[in-house]
Amino acid sequence: MYAVIMAGGRGERLWPASTREWPKPFLPLASGKALLRATYDRVVPLVGQEGVYVVAGRELAERVSLFLGIPPGRLIVEPRGKNTAPAVGLAAAFLAEKDPEAVLIMLPADHLIRGEEGFRRCLSAALAAARDGHLVTLGIRPTRPATGYGYIEPGEPLEGGEIPLYQVRRFVEKPPRELAEEFLSRGYLWNSGIFVWRAARILEEIDRYLPRLSGVLRRVGPAGEELVRAWDEVEEISIDSGVMERAADVAVVPAEFEWRDLGDWQAVWESLAGDGGVASVGTEPFAKDARNTLIWSRPGRVVAALGVEGLAIVDAPEALLVTKLDRSQEVRELARAAESPPDWDELYGRDASGMLAAVKALPGQARDALSLGESAELPWEELAGFSRVVVAGMGGSGISGDLLASLLPCEVIASRGYNIPGFVGEETLLVAVSYSGNTEETLASFEQGLSRTRRAIAVSSGGKLRALAEEHGVPWIGIPAGLQPRAALGYLLFSLLGVFRRLGTFSEDPREALAVLEGMAEELSPGRKGNPAQALALALWRRVPLIYGAGCTAPVAMRWKTQVNENAKQPAFWGELPEVCHNEIVGYELTGGVMPQAEVVFLRSACDHPRVAARIDILKEVLTRRGLPFQEVRGRGESKAAQLLSLLYLGDWVSVYLALLNRVDPTPVRPIQELKDRLARI
Ligand code: F6R
Repeated sequence: MYAVIMAGGRGERLWPASTREWPKPFLPLASGKALLRATYDRVVPLVGQEGVYVVAGRELAERVSLFLGIPPGRLIVEPRGKNTAPAVGLAAAFLAEKDPEAVLIMLPADHLIRGEEGFRRCLSAALAAARDGHLVTLGIRPTRPATGYGYIEPGEPLEGGEIPLYQVRRFVEKPPRELAEEFLSRGYLWNSGIFVWRAARILEEIDRYLPRLSGVLRRVGPAGEELVRAWDEVEEISIDSGVMERAADVAVVPAEFEWRDLGDWQAVWESLAGDGGVASVGTEPFAKDARNTLIWSRPGRVVAALGVEGLAIVDAPEALLVTKLDRSQEVRELARAAESPPDWDELYGRDASGMLAAVKALPGQARDALSLGESAELPWEELAGFSRVVVAGMGGSGISGDLLASLLPCEVIASRGYNIPGFVGEETLLVAVSYSGNTEETLASFEQGLSRTRRAIAVSSGGKLRALAEEHGVPWIGIPAGLQPRAALGYLLFSLLGVFRRLGTFSEDPREALAVLEGMAEELSPGRKGNPAQALALALWRRVPLIYGAGCTAPVAMRWKTQVNENAKQPAFWGELPEVCHNEIVGYELTGGVMPQAEVVFLRSACDHPRVAARIDILKEVLTRRGLPFQEVRGRGESKAAQLLSLLYLGDWVSVYLALLNRVDPTPVRPIQELKDRLARI
C-alpha cells in the first residue's frame, strides 16, 4: 500500500504568495502547516513513512525532498508537467516495478482536508474496493452549484463495509450553472481528484486509452534521461478525461470529511472566516471596521486594514496584491504578466556604458596580463626570498589580494585600510594594487610598508601610486587605463599571477582556467538569451542575495557581493562556510520575518572539504524548511584556479544581468566617486 502525493499544483491564482519557485503546495494557506506537509502527515498513519512517494516536476523535486525530508529514492520525477494522467502513469509504472501488487492512493498536495478520522475511514473503504479490482475515486458532497469542478453521478451501491460505496455512472467535467444546480439536487458528487487503485489495474487502463503514454512507459521505463526525451510524446490530459470517464468498474466513496481545493484567495478566505469575518494567515489580524477581508503576510509584519470590505491583501516577498475577493479568479492574468520573461533586447539598451562588453573581455585581459607579469622587467633576484606576501588595496583592486591568498601556496594577507599589519618587515613582499593609483588608503599603507621592507611592487594604471613607486625606486607594473577598477580584474590579478609564476611561487598553469573562462564568455554573453547567468539573475531579481563561499571560494563570495552592489546597485551579503554554521544559521529563524527577500547562493567547488559538502546539504534542508529559497552553483574545470575563477566569472555576468533587470546602468558608481571627491577636499 502506497500513497503518492502529486505535488504539481502551480496555484497561479494564489500569486504573489504562490510563485513558480515556491508554489502553492509549499504554502501554509489555511493552517500553520504547508499544504504539502499536511498531506504528507495525513497519509503517514495509513501507509507509514516508507510508503509515501511524491511525484514532482524536475525543478521542484529537490525542494520537495528537502522540505519533507524524504530520500530522493521516494521521489518520482516528472520531466515536465503534463496534467494528471502522465503523472499517474509514471507513478504507477514506478511502483509496479518495485512491487507488482502495489495498491496506490493518489492525491494532490494542494487540497485542504479537515476531519482526518473520516478521511482515513474513507480511504480504508476505498483501499478494500481497489484490492477487489475497482478504480476508486473519492467524491465530495457539493455545498453549492460550482461550475469549476467535475461531477460524478453515483449509481448502484456496492457491497462494502460500514462506509457506503457506489458504482460510478458517469463523470461530467465543469458543467454550466443550470446543470450544476440540477446535479446538486440529484445527489451528484464533486470529483475530489483523490484516487485509489492497483498499480497494475490503472496501467492496463492506460494501455487501453492512452497509447502514447503507455508506449513511452513500456519503452523507456519510469525514470532516466531517455524518459526526458520521450516525454514530449505523451498525451497532455487529466486522468479523469483520459481514463476515468471511459473505464469500467469505477467506484466512488462519498467523503466523510471537509474538502476544499483552495483555488483562489476567495476560497482561502472562505475556509478561514465566517460571513463578515476578517481572516489572516501568517500574521496577527490588525483590522478595524473591516469586513469579509483576508490578510496574508508573515510573522512580525503589521498589515493594517481600516474600513475596508471584501478585499484580499496579500503581502508576499515577491509583490503586494490588493484585490476584491470576488475578483480572485482574475489574479491568474496578473501572475502571468508579472512572471512573464523579460525582453532582454530592450534591457541590453540600459547598458549605456558597455559593462557587458567589459565583462566579456575579462578572459582576453587575463591572457594579456599573464604575459605582461611574466615578462615584466623586474629585479627578480631582489624580490625573491620572501616568506609572506601582503597585498594593500581597496575595493575592486583589493579583491586581487584575497584571490591571491586563495591561489598561492604561500601566506598572503590582503590588507585594507590606512595601516599595514605590524608584522611587515624585510621578509615580506609588499604589493600595492590600485587601478586608479589614487586610492588614499592604499597609498598611505604602502608608504608605511615601504619604510619596513624593500621587497615591493606596485600595480596601477598610473596615478599617484606610480609616482610613489618611482620616488622609492620600487618596480611598477602599468596596466591599461580607462576601465572601471572592477572591470579590470583580469589585468590586476593576472599580471600578479604572472609575477608569482616567474618568481616560482605559483606553479599551476592558469591557462586551463583561461580556457574555461573563454568558453563561459561565449556561453553567458548577451547573444545567448536565456543563458544560465540570465536565469540565475532572474531567480535573484528583487531578492537580497546571501552568498556563501567556503575556504578558497570565500573571496569569490565577496566578489559576488561587491559586484552585485556596484553593478546592480542593490544590497547583497556574503558569508563563509563552515563559519556560517556557527552563527548565521540561527538568524534564519526570523529571516523570513525581517528580510523576506533573502536568498542564499551556495558557491560550490571541487576544492570544498567533504565536511563542507555535508554541511551544505544540511543547510539546504534547514533553509527549505524555513521557507527560504537558495541557489547552488558549481565551479568548472580541473585546477583550483579554474574552479575559483569560473565561479567568480559567473557572478560577474549575473551581477550585470541583475543590473539590467533592475533597469540601471551597471557601470557608474557615483556614490564611491562622490565620497572620494568630498574626502579630497577635507
Ligand atoms: C570598483 C570600484 C571601487 C574601487 C575602489 C578602489 O569598480 O570602483 O571598488 O576599486 O574604490 O579604487 P582603485 O581600484 O582605483 O584603487
